[in-house]
Amino acid sequence: MSGRTWSSGRLERLLGVDHPIVQGPFGGGLSSTELVAAVSEAGGLGSYGAHILDPDRITGLVAELKAATRRPFAVNLWVPQPGESEARAVPADVERLRPYLDELGIEAPGLAGPYAQDFTEQARALLAAEPPVVSFVMGVPPEWVLAEARRRGLVTIGTATTVDEAAALADAGLDAVVASGSDAGGHRGSFLRPVGESLVGTMALVPQVADAVSVPVIAAGGIADGRGVAAALVLGADGVQIGTGFLAVEESGASALHKAALLGPAARVTVLTRLFSGRPARAIPNRFIEEMAAYEAEVPSYPVQNALMLPIRRAAAERGLADYVNLWAGQSASLTRPVGAAEYLGDLVADAGRILGGGR
Ligand SMILES: Cc1cc2nc3c(=O)[nH]c(=O)nc-3n(C[C@H](O)[C@H](O)[C@H](O)COP(=O)(O)O)c2cc1C
Repeated sequence: MSGRTWSSGRLERLLGVDHPIVQGPFGGGLSSTELVAAVSEAGGLGSYGAHILDPDRITGLVAELKAATRRPFAVNLWVPQPGESEARAVPADVERLRPYLDELGIEAPGLAGPYAQDFTEQARALLAAEPPVVSFVMGVPPEWVLAEARRRGLVTIGTATTVDEAAALADAGLDAVVASGSDAGGHRGSFLRPVGESLVGTMALVPQVADAVSVPVIAAGGIADGRGVAAALVLGADGVQIGTGFLAVEESGASALHKAALLGPAARVTVLTRLFSGRPARAIPNRFIEEMAAYEAEVPSYPVQNALMLPIRRAAAERGLADYVNLWAGQSASLTRPVGAAEYLGDLVADAGRILGGGR
């Protein structure tokens, strides 16, 4: 590192990176090895969202990432929430989706589970594969996971949407905490209280989390350019995690359809919806969200709705139909740019440095 003084340096030291910038993990198949490697090679921390991958695929993924970059990177899992494994679909859950299944001419999904991967098996495979950093969302990872990560020398990151969640993660021994404001794209990771009671904007959340925990704080939600990075650091964060901004870059796994939506005028409006997965997530509104609005509270919880929607989402994505695709986006989507990841990261660092000058 070049003697830069605009960040605290704590996150860079913890992660072994040059810049305090984390590329947020994307679950649901939107991560790409190319993006993780490009960000890590450029001196940030690339992250891969692995929550839909089976244990064997996770083992293979970590090997692929290690072959693609010698720099640190993170792999992310979703911690299961209480009651999730008992959830079951009923026929009405599929009937509600019938018009879309018919329109797309696809088979109704089966009612039987499993609806999601087994977290314990995923975590075992992930830890054994030893990625440099393991990150988690939706809860506090079990003690055995944290103990095993420590034993293997892996850095752990947890995700909080409230001050209480940040304190719970720090108390459990996570090495760093992402403070994810409600501006963020994708799923809300709230786990202590319902999402509706945990919608704290990044501007309010970050300084309160920085006051409450002693581990490095990574601000997330609505940060997409150097001004946002600088603001987060002024608020007391040690670094930032950027999702939507990296989703728009050339190497991301997002479809052309998704990227076009992020860069177009539609992305000026985003909404929180449970309709795609059963968990509230921030997305650009489309025909599916508008037509199904009456069922927002009625659709089954994650992972059931997620599994039932998968065939529709896949078919729509393959056919380039934005009407039924989950166009996850944060509130800063309109600040994103379709450039390469290294150029984007370089601009974030240069602009934040220019704004913050030599100290803060
Ligand atoms: C498409 C998409 C998928 C995401 N998937 C995950 C995930 O699987 N795990 C996770 O911890 N965060 C996930 N996130 C959150 C991001 O990693 C990041 O924290 C968030 O996007 C930051 O807010 P921003 O979108 O305003 O930059 C996702 C975000 C997006 C946009």
